[in-house]
Amino acid sequence: MKSGMLALNTLLFSCVITGVCSALLPTRLQADAQENNRPIIGILTQEISDDVMKKFGKTYIPASYVQYVESGGARVMPVKLNQSFAEHEKIFKSINGLLLIGGAVDLETSDFAHTAEIYFKLALKANDNGDYFPIWGTCLGLQLLTVLVAGENLLTRATAENVSLPLTFTEDPLLSRMFKSFPDKVLKALATEPLTGNFHHYGVTAEAFLNNQKLNDFFSILSTNIAENGSKFVSTMEGKKYPFYGVQWHPEVNRFQWDPNYQFPHSKNAVRVSSLLAEFFVNEARRSLHRFSQPEEEIKALIYNYSPVYVGNITAYELSYFF
Ligand SMILES: *[C@@H]1O[C@H](CO)[C@@H](O)[C@H](O)[C@H]1NC(C)=O
Ligand SMILES: *[C@@H]1O[C@H](CO)[C@@H](O)[C@H](O)[C@H]1NC(C)=O
Ligand SMILES: *[C@@H]1O[C@H](CO)[C@@H](O)[C@H](O)[C@H]1NC(C)=O
Ligand SMILES: *[C@@H]1O[C@H](CO)[C@@H](O)[C@H](O)[C@H]1NC(C)=O
Repeated sequence: MKSGMLALNTLLFSCVITGVCSALLPTRLQADAQENNRPIIGILTQEISDDVMKKFGKTYIPASYVQYVESGGARVMPVKLNQSFAEHEKIFKSINGLLLIGGAVDLETSDFAHTAEIYFKLALKANDNGDYFPIWGTCLGLQLLTVLVAGENLLTRATAENVSLPLTFTEDPLLSRMFKSFPDKVLKALATEPLTGNFHHYGVTAEAFLNNQKLNDFFSILSTNIAENGSKFVSTMEGKKYPFYGVQWHPEVNRFQWDPNYQFPHSKNAVRVSSLLAEFFVNEARRSLHRFSQPEEEIKALIYNYSPVYVGNITAYELSYFF
């Protein structure tokens, strides 16, 4: 075992020097032809609603979401709002998944909502045609997915602000795609320890969800939680037929936000949950074979062309990208 590892190290070392890695790797270590091992996740930028950040730009992506996606083994493309349909369609064919961030914009009238709808519809059509394309919504992102599916806004006040909660699973989580590869120990912790950070004032109650035929047909509720006023809201959901996922809570804060004024879960199990979900979503994106038509286009599109700004002294984020 030891000497095998040594040989592999030497092999990798020679890759760094020569830059001809794949030529040196034995066939069995090369990527499965049908699996995309260079996935790129689009993260939709969002209009800035927090006044203290407005001096930096018009739209933003907190760096915690970028780090989250990168930690799962993917690269990030920031997707700007207000582009033509043709431009969005071209981006859609170049990326392997879309992440909708949390925040505070209108779910029906914002540019964020309008642009998300373009990708949502493209993804529906693509998946129908066997072209796998996953979408992940966090917090406002989950809420937006429910609006896009239901065709109406079913949100009501369901405040769970600055509070960490264990999930109440609705069925055996091992039957879901999202949680089926979680170790038993981590699932048990997720159900009993406060590992999910909640920062929301609105939500979709389990009742509103179950009374809406479209939502019911489209998504399975994987977990619920109780809001401050006692209403039961949907905290985790996944598409029945489509690889679309939503969490009302914030897995990215567990590893990438540290403001001591907020209840960001940082325990060993909290970190593990965040890592497993980031890997889960990126693994979904590996099933998408979309790619940029030109390498130069890919290079220009990636987040590496932007520098995040320190906002730890004015927001609950450490760093944020502005566009
Ligand atoms: C998008 O375009 C509209 C109409 O021109 C404008 O009002 C809005 O500020 C733009 N949004 C962004 C994020 O650039
Ligand atoms: C919680 O507040 C919302 C909005 O005011 C209301 O619709 C809901 O009935 C309340 N839930 C409970 C259990 O009081
Ligand atoms: C968040 O919750 C913690 C623990 O309850 C509390 O100490 C802190 O003041 C709260 N932060 C805000 C911004 O309300
Ligand atoms: C926050 O930090 C940045 C970078 O160090 C600095 O430029 C800015 O003035 C600070 N803002 C406040 C309100 O302290």
